[in-house]
Amino acid sequence: MTIDIVTIFPDFFKPFVETSMIRKAREHGYVTIHLRDLRDYTKDRHRKVDDTPYGGGAGMVLTFQPLYDAIKALKGENSKVILLTPQGRLFDQRRATELSELEHIILISGHYEGFDARIEDYVDLELSIGNFVLTGGEIPAMALADAIIRLVPGVLHEESAATDSLQQGLLKYPQYTKPASYLGHDVPDVLLSGNHGLIDAWRKRKSVERTLEKRPDLLKDYVFDDPIVSLIEEVKKSCK
Ligand SMILES: C[S@@+](CC[C@H](N)C(=O)[O-])C[C@H]1O[C@@H](n2cnc3c(N)ncnc32)[C@H](O)[C@@H]1O
Repeated sequence: MTIDIVTIFPDFFKPFVETSMIRKAREHGYVTIHLRDLRDYTKDRHRKVDDTPYGGGAGMVLTFQPLYDAIKALKGENSKVILLTPQGRLFDQRRATELSELEHIILISGHYEGFDARIEDYVDLELSIGNFVLTGGEIPAMALADAIIRLVPGVLHEESAATDSLQQGLLKYPQYTKPASYLGHDVPDVLLSGNHGLIDAWRKRKSVERTLEKRPDLLKDYVFDDPIVSLIEEVKKSCK
């Protein structure tokens, strides 16, 4: 997969692309990330990429020409152009999974008061990372890139991505590590039992319970399949 990030602050991304999982994914060839300075596409001799809004109002707006030229230069047959904007559809794990299967993504970060609206005709998708307004699209671009890249096959241990919260529509079960007991805080016995059938069933039950407790809104879209329900029943019986 290739990700082009168009921004007026390419330096913002340097630690991001050079740290942890993203660095490894790049080094192992799972992803190529190009940081594209929007100013490299402007025809303005002072490298200006913003101007005042027609009709008046506060702040500056990113001009159409460099955005249009950047898309024209970067877009290929299999590219998806994504505009980061608080006006977009909410980005979520389902969208991350869908995007992780693509060959080429172009992420366009805004700044100031946003974009000249004419650019909207040249993008495939507008995405928001939440119902709040950030100063620029750099953090949203990193959030998207990170969520997408970790789902590219091979980047993570397959099981790790598959059992993450939200990936299957539920929150992940609680996890514990050593020591098994500290100041009277004990790890649930079932996890020390060595019985993997029982552990799986306990984890599935905890996933459902956690989701019900913390994010009941997720359950309205969740399809309870028979195996899960029967596993819960199994665990209930074993707990009696
Ligand atoms: C200060 S915001 C501009 C907001 C714009 N005036 C509006 O009301 O829609 C500057 C840039 O930050 C990015 N941005 C801010 N909040 C965002 C969010 N929740 N999701 C995605 N991008 C966001 C966008 O790229 C946006 O163009």
